[in-house]
Amino acid sequence: MFGGSFNPIHNAHVNLASSFIKKLKLDKLLLIPTATPPHKSDSEMVSAEHRLNMCTLASEDIKKVEVSDIEIKREGKSYTVDTLRQLKEIYPDSEIFLITGADMFMTLLEWREPEEIFSLATVCSVPRNDDDVEVLEEKEKLYNKMGAKTVILDLKKCSISSSRIRELAFEDESFSKLVDPKVEQYIYANYLYMDKSKINYDRFDKVLKARMSEKRYIHSFNVAVEAQRLAKKYGADVEKARLAGMLHDITKETSGNEQLQIIENSNIILNDIERPSPKLWHAIAGAAFVRDVMGIDDEDVFNAIRYHTSGRANMSLLEKCVFIADFTGAERDYDGVEEMRSLSNKSLEEAMAFGLSFSVADLAKRRLAIDPNSLACYNEVVLKTSKSYNKSK
Ligand SMILES: [Fe+2]
Ligand SMILES: [Fe+2]
Repeated sequence: MFGGSFNPIHNAHVNLASSFIKKLKLDKLLLIPTATPPHKSDSEMVSAEHRLNMCTLASEDIKKVEVSDIEIKREGKSYTVDTLRQLKEIYPDSEIFLITGADMFMTLLEWREPEEIFSLATVCSVPRNDDDVEVLEEKEKLYNKMGAKTVILDLKKCSISSSRIRELAFEDESFSKLVDPKVEQYIYANYLYMDKSKINYDRFDKVLKARMSEKRYIHSFNVAVEAQRLAKKYGADVEKARLAGMLHDITKETSGNEQLQIIENSNIILNDIERPSPKLWHAIAGAAFVRDVMGIDDEDVFNAIRYHTSGRANMSLLEKCVFIADFTGAERDYDGVEEMRSLSNKSLEEAMAFGLSFSVADLAKRRLAIDPNSLACYNEVVLKTSKSYNKSK
């Protein structure tokens, strides 16, 4: 049993696990993330689900390691002794080794029912640094007198700590050498441990790259550039246009299940058209992710992302700029893109009427439901522009 908060799991954890498997010839090593650690404040603690997912990613390629959610599933605070009892029930004939960090090993007597722990498992640890060696050995002697079986392995010292990784992530410095590449990717993709109080485009870049293909990243970049240009021309907030343009498709390549989860976490209820239309989810999930996960709490940015595919009645200037930029970004090359571009330079409504008449017709042709927001938007811009349209015909 190797338990811990794993907030996040890092290379030293993984090395420790591999070394114990080898040295003690273990048949199985269970990585067990804690639910609510009894000895830690939870201010920087990310959800159990995230920590569990990172453990799975970090240990995927290591034989004999299994990630277990028994502590997470158990209600209330996790005590090691309870987990050991549970493991003894699951594996009645097995010898159990409990792997602890040096700091945990030294404070074992403060844990709940230490003597029961000693009777259920051999307690194992490793020194963090040279100063630890003596102290650990003294503790070991004390525990042995109490009847405990112990193993102290003197592995190569490794000074990685989860708190250091959290610090580096928060400061936007690289921590790639300290964690598995898949864990690094996961941390960026889910915006964990990041400083949410600042607008930081480098970091937005990282979350985008962790979540999407190169092609979609280029599209996002182009939409940002185009949204900025339109914002400048028509007097919308240029900074917000860049932000919303950059992030508008942030969950476009996210699985449907995860999109729905993000939507649910943000307490957004899908309407009768949205629920059965997966194509509409990414705009809603994207807006929710940007506001609630990334902490960019701006109503106009939220709505620009939320309505970038459907449109809606009474769109703000910013919403219109992002909506159109999605059609006219530099890489777009569909039939009619040049007309759309030239209309966008005359009037936002003209460009929207042009774009929407295509997308509404396309949905109808394929016998797909049309979002009432799209229809309201279509009607609004068509009525507003009908005079000039008829004149030009
Ligand atoms: Fe989109
Ligand atoms: Fe897009």
